[in-house]
Amino acid sequence: MKKIGTIHIGARLDDVGRTLAARLEPGRALVVSPTPVARRWASPLLAGLRRSGFDPSMALIADGERHKTLSTVEKLYGRALAARLDRRSVVIALGGGVAGDMAGFVAATYMRGVPFVQCPTTLLAMVDASIGGKTGVDLPEGKNLVGAFWQPALVCMDLRVLKTLPDRHWRTGMAEVIKYGLMADPRLWARLEKSDLPTLKKNPRFLEQVVAVSAGIKADVVARDERETTGLRATLNLGHTFAHAIETVSGYTRYTHGEAVAIGLCAAARLGARMGLFPPADIKRVDELVRRWGLPVRVNRPLSRAGILAAMGRDKKALKGGFRFVVPTGIGRAKVVGGVAANDLAGVLDEVGL
Ligand SMILES: NC(=O)c1ccc[n+]([C@@H]2O[C@H](COP(=O)([O-])OP(=O)(O)OC[C@H]3O[C@@H](n4cnc5c(N)ncnc54)[C@H](O)[C@@H]3O)[C@@H](O)[C@H]2O)c1
Ligand SMILES: [Zn+2]
Repeated sequence: MKKIGTIHIGARLDDVGRTLAARLEPGRALVVSPTPVARRWASPLLAGLRRSGFDPSMALIADGERHKTLSTVEKLYGRALAARLDRRSVVIALGGGVAGDMAGFVAATYMRGVPFVQCPTTLLAMVDASIGGKTGVDLPEGKNLVGAFWQPALVCMDLRVLKTLPDRHWRTGMAEVIKYGLMADPRLWARLEKSDLPTLKKNPRFLEQVVAVSAGIKADVVARDERETTGLRATLNLGHTFAHAIETVSGYTRYTHGEAVAIGLCAAARLGARMGLFPPADIKRVDELVRRWGLPVRVNRPLSRAGILAAMGRDKKALKGGFRFVVPTGIGRAKVVGGVAANDLAGVLDEVGL
């Protein structure tokens, strides 16, 4: 087990109760989990909570991003009231990023805020969504438009839960891991260049290291720029301006988030090279690593160019006065750049099939 502050990597779900009891008075708890995840993984968590003196209730939620809404949150407030949660009770998320974002928002707002615990069950939630304190829901107008910063008291990553995770979700998490290597960690990058998904799934120690290094990078960046004021936290969005545009224009169905991020990383490397910031010879290394982990380097069918540019213009990182992007400046380094020339951007979009 590795600990990075309150993030416990390789901890056990059945130990959450004991760890929590050492930090707060055991009382009522609400476990928020999508039905399919709860069916497989809730019992060790609930048993451990009970053993440590907690009184847990389950709040099952419908599965999927389309349920990450205020209407689900409202139902969860109802469940919390019915279970008689008070200000000292704890809300626990057991699931992927969707459950974590929503349960976190409930914890941040129920009775003006109650303690919160994250038990992420997807690789993406472990290396990304469960760390950093961003919680929230989608509106019909767009993703993550309502939310709050609310830090969990404990993040318990029981890596054994990943044995039921479908491969496509493994690859989505790995796209973020590849992003961390490219933006911040040449050693992580080099290890990924010598491995692949089947190897990672067979090797729990390697998996624990990959998750710990990735979670560590995210936690470190967030600690230095929690509210995105210095621009450092924005580097976590490497590849994401392209990715969000791909997801928006393709209607969130054709590509997973990780697949879109993978294409976005290939695009960001090319943009960096065109701006004279990233060694052109390393573009091939980015493409090869993305392919090695079973992820796409370009879109398989062209998307509307006008749509892509419009979506990029709406991106949170596109400030007035031209496009801003995060580009790599080497393997393991990245920075935010402004003043991207339209013809450089057009050239990059051509190269990744957009
Ligand atoms: N708060 C943040 O900083 C942050 C960062 C990144 C992403 N996010 C959010 O995270 C969400 C995406 O998270 P996600 O990719 O985890 O998606 P998800 O939560 O929808 O989970 C993906 C699917 O995997 C299933 N699943 C979860 N754990 C499983 C397991 N162990 N075995 C089998 N199936 C399992 C889920 O039921 C679901 O169907 C998005 O809403 C995104 O906005 C938030
Ligand atoms: Zn992402």
